[in-house]
Amino acid sequence: MTRTPLIAGNWKMNLDHLQAVALVQKLHWSLKDASHEFDDVDVTVFPPFTDLRSVQTLVDADKIPFGLGAQDLSIHDSGAYTGEVSGEFLAKLGCGSVIVGHSERREYHAETDEVVAAKTRAAVKHGLVPVICVGETSEDLEKHGASAVPVAQLETILDGLASDSEIVVAYEPVWAIGSGQAATPEQAQEVCQKLRDVIRVSLGDEAADATRVLYGGSVKSGNIASFMREPDIDGALVGGGSLKVDEFSAIVRFQK
Ligand code: G3H
Repeated sequence: MTRTPLIAGNWKMNLDHLQAVALVQKLHWSLKDASHEFDDVDVTVFPPFTDLRSVQTLVDADKIPFGLGAQDLSIHDSGAYTGEVSGEFLAKLGCGSVIVGHSERREYHAETDEVVAAKTRAAVKHGLVPVICVGETSEDLEKHGASAVPVAQLETILDGLASDSEIVVAYEPVWAIGSGQAATPEQAQEVCQKLRDVIRVSLGDEAADATRVLYGGSVKSGNIASFMREPDIDGALVGGGSLKVDEFSAIVRFQK
């Protein structure tokens, strides 16, 4: 089964709405200058909530072929939940996907696998593709090896999810995020293969073969190709590198 690669840019809490528009425009020009075709790779940007409207308008009006996603969503549909943003609002704003379970949400907002599972269901309910992040800390790595924690996280999150739910899974070793020290492609492949096995057991063969599994953690233009050569890695979730036009453009234009 051929899966279209996905390069996802998670801007985290960076760029106001003016800077966001400038970045998307420059990125589009940079890719056009390089005669980049979008037939063979999907690109999705995940700006802060406050930038979504500006980026959506630009993407729609200028026919910029980037997908739009949010970095989080509420488990609730609407109501007295101050500060929360529902999946319904995001879908109506033109978002096609949403990140759930990023390690920064787990660390700074005490999100458990059960909360991430509820967010995954809320995303699917509103027609958003959840980009489900899992990964081990350096302590987990030392105690249990690389795959035990991400596998257990994904098993809990997918438990009971309908088998026809479209999802993306992102393997992000926490120790590799923003550290400049990426996992080796071989290490990442080993875990991504095990995550695909979890999808197979939880959602079935069709889902396992169709689901894109990404690697994230210090992905750069210099190492993206080596990850993309691995059979179970279908793209990247890029943090720091997605904020720099030339760097992100080069990552999108990776050559196998
Ligand atoms: O969501 C993105 C990841 O946290 C990776 O961030 O590319 O800055 O290491 P990074």
